[in-house]
Amino acid sequence: MKRFGLIGFPLTHSFSKKYFSSKFEKENIKDCAYENYEIPGIEQFTSILKNNPELIGLNVTIPYKQQVLPFLDILDVSAEFVGAVNVIKVGSDKKLKGYNSDYYGFLESLKRMLPENYNGIKALILGTGGAAKAVEGALKTLKIQYQYVSRQKTDILSYDQLSKEIIEDHKLIINTSPLGMFPKIDTCPDINYTFIGKGHFLFDLVYNPEITLFMQKGMNQRATVKNGLEMLHLQAEEAWKIWNS
Ligand SMILES: NC(=O)c1ccc[n+]([C@@H]2O[C@H](COP(=O)([O-])OP(=O)(O)OC[C@H]3O[C@@H](n4cnc5c(N)ncnc54)[C@H](OP(=O)(O)O)[C@@H]3O)[C@@H](O)[C@H]2O)c1
Repeated sequence: MKRFGLIGFPLTHSFSKKYFSSKFEKENIKDCAYENYEIPGIEQFTSILKNNPELIGLNVTIPYKQQVLPFLDILDVSAEFVGAVNVIKVGSDKKLKGYNSDYYGFLESLKRMLPENYNGIKALILGTGGAAKAVEGALKTLKIQYQYVSRQKTDILSYDQLSKEIIEDHKLIINTSPLGMFPKIDTCPDINYTFIGKGHFLFDLVYNPEITLFMQKGMNQRATVKNGLEMLHLQAEEAWKIWNS
């Protein structure tokens, strides 16, 4: 039996177990199981590995994407770039290698959204958490200039500094905050949406609901919009590729 799993806390709303269990069934993948390992502290990570010697791949979610780093033997460039890990591969020698598949998922999904001539486009990243780091890594890879926007960090843009000029100058706006996510679907980032126009691209990492209020407000201004569902599937498939490589 090949075992895969997810570490995090809490894991009540996790996507991965449902995704992989249904993938194994739909694609008739035999001898594979995916389990949730809800651990209240990262110190329990070692005992998860010890008690499950058949584990060959793990996903990592909140709050351990950075806390798990000292337990790993080697980092893939994606994880080095982002400074956080959401996929671990257990080698045949039991060495642990960390990757960041959110980075790959966002990079690919963004590339599919942008037109070929996106050169020179500038981006605003709304929020400064873990997901924002994967977004930042992907923007660096695509050589897209970006600025962070935060509610509370003093050295970067705040929401009330987002003037007409700044919004018009940044045609790509990425919501990496949880605003708008079910069940609080009537919330969205606090920007002046009337400054958004047809040439804007609004990418929301939130994937439930399918059309978030952030996206709806962009659509009302005729902007191109995208939610985080494709990114979510792409990062899961990237994890599968990593574990099977
Ligand atoms: N589609 C995908 O594959 C994918 C992958 C990863 C994450 N996500 C989604 O991305 C979102 C963020 O994930 P995360 O792990 O980065 O979460 P997080 O660390 O909890 O939050 C991200 C940042 O959003 C800002 N923020 C938080 N609450 C806010 C509020 N009430 N109002 C305004 N800003 C707020 C904060 O930045 P400041 O304090 O600096 O403002 C925070 O650092 C979640 O909805 C998650 O489900 C999607």
